[in-house]
Amino acid sequence: MESNSRDGFSSKIGVIAAAAGSAIGLGNIWRFPYIIGDNGGGAFLIVYLLCVLTLGIPIMIGEFALGRISRVNAIATFRKLAPKSIFSIVGYIGLLSAFCILSFYGVVAGWCFSYILKSLSGAFNNLTPDKADLIFNNLVSGGFEPIFWQVAFMFLTGFIVLFGIKNGIEKYSKILMPLLFIIIIILDIRALTLANANDGLSFLFKFDFSKITLNTIFMALGQAFFSLSVGMGTMITYGSYISKKENLLTTSLNVAFADTLVAVLAGIAIFPAVFTFNIDPSSGAGLAFISLPMVFSKMFMGNIFACLFFILLLVAGLTSSISILEVIVAFLCEDFNISRKKVTILTTVVVSLSGVICSLSNGFMKINLFNQSYMDFLNYLSSNFLLPLGAILISVFLGYYFDKKLFVKELTNDGEIKLPFEKLLFFLFKFFIPFIISIIFLQNLNIIKL
Ligand code: PFF
Repeated sequence: MESNSRDGFSSKIGVIAAAAGSAIGLGNIWRFPYIIGDNGGGAFLIVYLLCVLTLGIPIMIGEFALGRISRVNAIATFRKLAPKSIFSIVGYIGLLSAFCILSFYGVVAGWCFSYILKSLSGAFNNLTPDKADLIFNNLVSGGFEPIFWQVAFMFLTGFIVLFGIKNGIEKYSKILMPLLFIIIIILDIRALTLANANDGLSFLFKFDFSKITLNTIFMALGQAFFSLSVGMGTMITYGSYISKKENLLTTSLNVAFADTLVAVLAGIAIFPAVFTFNIDPSSGAGLAFISLPMVFSKMFMGNIFACLFFILLLVAGLTSSISILEVIVAFLCEDFNISRKKVTILTTVVVSLSGVICSLSNGFMKINLFNQSYMDFLNYLSSNFLLPLGAILISVFLGYYFDKKLFVKELTNDGEIKLPFEKLLFFLFKFFIPFIISIIFLQNLNIIKL
């Protein structure tokens, strides 16, 4: 794509729908509830909110601004703004993260297709815990079925990205995001009218500070990164398509607010049901795919609600996966001057192949890297290593290397709007974020043990 006719978002609502679409994903509806379930409910929620405020939002603001200054993809951004410096590596880390995340993301999103069909066909009627477990394990360790759905999901992602920003990502996000809100509100209303809804709500909102451990903080930090889509250049890429008129600060706050709201709404949809039907809230990653079908099977019109839930998960996954694919596509299009169509098809095929290996590694074949399945390895490498690394570098870059005046000028739209908390923002970039992420990082690498 020539730079003089560069595609971009056409409206404020389009920017918010697309960026919130990126942030709101499997991370909110599948990952957040089981992590909060594993980490004692309300105690986790408050730590998570603090992480979003002090860590996620500043990095998001920084990424948006860098993208809008450079007006190029994430890799070229650092080449342009920090030529011949170590920071160029940030873009490549982002590219690798995008490849890793998308590979396993498509697999999980693909399972939703299968679960939508299963709920419609009545496979979840009179479900017992053993049967729920069996259905899930048969699916994930199967050969053809999960691969078929993963590839279908990846091609759906590629189909949207093919049309570019205005006519692809923006257009579909504006349709899919309201749909997502409608579905989650229907599910919430249903959940809140269940018998033991109060127990579920008090699990979610009762802040028992004695339950906060170091592990809670680490989990909350990782979840905040993943959920807000920061640390890998997604928001740099989206920022490069945002018009100079938009207020980047309020955009970031809106996106973070919507992301957190959906995570909490997902919790409200899930925990009242979990408590009403005596499911263990700490049943881990299977919460959505094993416990929830059981919950739905015990509900009046449960098949319909199950189907709605997995459509919700699929829609949320789709608006995130397009943002991840766009990181790779924007780079290849712009740096190698190849058409968007060719690049999108090629990237979709390559990522799908990696997704096939992920899917097979879940039990059908033994495909291990560093003593874990290929899928678990990509998940670990991206969330625990690449995203924190990207975020710490972006933070140090903004705190110490990049011209502060230029950054402030971008955030204030050339002095037209105010930038409150400027000092706080730079304190976070310079000291707080590098310090906190270093600790998570060292802990995850087992270099320190706190
Ligand atoms: N934020 C997405 C989610 O919560 O599912 C996942 C994600 C999207 C992570 C884009 C990183 C990213 F760049």
